[in-house]
Amino acid sequence: MASEQNHLYMNPGQDKTSYARNSTLQKTEQDRMKPLIEDAITALCRVAAPQSMAIMDLGCSSGPNALTLTSATVDAIHRHCMKYAQTAPEICLFLNDLPYNDFNTVAKSLAEFKHCHDRSSHHVIVAGMIPGSFYERLVTSGSVHFVCSSYSLHWLSKAPEELAKRKIPMYDSDEHSRLLNSEIVANAYARQFRKDFTLFLSLRAEELVLGGRLVFSLLGRCSSNPASVCTQAWKLVAIALNDMALRVSLAYIE
Ligand SMILES: C[S@@+](CC[C@H](N)C(=O)[O-])C[C@H]1O[C@@H](n2cnc3c(N)ncnc32)[C@H](O)[C@@H]1O
Repeated sequence: MASEQNHLYMNPGQDKTSYARNSTLQKTEQDRMKPLIEDAITALCRVAAPQSMAIMDLGCSSGPNALTLTSATVDAIHRHCMKYAQTAPEICLFLNDLPYNDFNTVAKSLAEFKHCHDRSSHHVIVAGMIPGSFYERLVTSGSVHFVCSSYSLHWLSKAPEELAKRKIPMYDSDEHSRLLNSEIVANAYARQFRKDFTLFLSLRAEELVLGGRLVFSLLGRCSSNPASVCTQAWKLVAIALNDMALRVSLAYIE
C-alpha cells in the first residue's frame, strides 16, 4: 500500500466541519444496506447461529456512522435468534479504518454502545479497533463471520502510477488537455480499481470463515462516459482539489 494513503483521514471530532456532522448522505446509503445485512445474517445463521461471531466494518470513519452497520448486524443476529429460538452467539465487533482516523471518538462511541447494550441485554459483546488498510490482512485466517463496508471501497490504494509517470493529473484545469487525456485517465483509474478490488476480495476470502458473508456499498456511476451526470457534480470539487495538489507540489519544488 502506498504510505501516503496511511495519512488520509476524514475530519476528526464533533465540530461543524467534522465528518461526524457532515455525513448524512453516507448515512442514507448505510440505511439502504440494512435489508441486505438482514438477509446475509439470515443466510449465515440459517442452520444454527455459531457459538461466537466476529463482525468487522471496514472504513468505519468516526461519528454516528462508525457504528451504524455493526449495530444493525448485532440487531439482525438477535432478531434472527429470537425468531428461531436459537441461542444468541457471543459477538466480537471490529472497527477498521486507516491509522490516522479519529479512533479516540470511535472508542467513546464503542463504550457508549456497549454500555447501552449491556444495560438492556445479557448477551456478550466485546469490541476492538483495527487501524490499518483494508488492502492488507487485518485479522487471522478464517476468523470473521461477517464483513461490511459502506462508502469506502472506492478509495483506491494509490493513484495510478502510469498517470504520475506521464505527469497526467486526474483533472486537468486546461480543458483541451483534459478532453485529450480523459480516456487515458478513466482507463488508468478503472485498472487501478480492478487491481485493488481483486486484492481486497482475495484478502477477505482468507479472513472469512467458510460460508461467511460480505456486504458493501461503494460510489460508482452507471455510464461508461466519465463526463456523465454523476461526475459533473464533482467538477467544482475537482478544480479545488487539483489547485490544492498543485500548490503542495510547488511548495515541495520551492
Ligand atoms: C466516506 S468515509 C465512509 C465512512 C463510513 N463507512 C460511512 O459510511 O459513513 C470513507 C472511509 O474509508 C476509509 N478508508 C479509505 N481507504 C481505506 C483503506 N485502505 N483502509 C481502511 N479504511 C480506508 C477512510 O479513512 C474513511 O474514513
